[in-house]
Amino acid sequence: MSADAFSIGPLNHVGIAVPDIDAAIDVYRRVFGCTDITSPKDLAPQGVTFAFVNLPSGQVELIQPLGDSSPIVKFLERNPKGGQHHLCFEVEDIDAACVIMAERGMRVLGAPRIGAHGTLVVFLHPSDAGGVLIELMETPKEGAH
Ligand code: CO
Repeated sequence: MSADAFSIGPLNHVGIAVPDIDAAIDVYRRVFGCTDITSPKDLAPQGVTFAFVNLPSGQVELIQPLGDSSPIVKFLERNPKGGQHHLCFEVEDIDAACVIMAERGMRVLGAPRIGAHGTLVVFLHPSDAGGVLIELMETPKEGAH
């Protein structure tokens, strides 16, 4: 992939940090009428428990801290009721995206790790993107869930 040709792909999900994922799921189910919500799962490498609210346009990812060193503990200290935490865009090749983002002046936060969809993800510093934490995730390959 040439760097000039790089662009982000579809918006995959909006990440919402919540203090109580069961309570948050209840709001999406009972108040917003969502029927397709995944059961909460632990994702130890990212320090979160997550669930996806599936909508025709994409997903809302609810994340609750898993463990005291969770990266969203501080976010929830500042936003005790929860709040919008990140946007996730798909990219075809996560390693190429990391190189190109760094070339374009973005601070890439660590090496790619397995994310909630089972593909590699990486985060970009919010100060470099209008104050919004950006997650890039490699698009699941055809046939994968
Ligand atoms: Co996410």
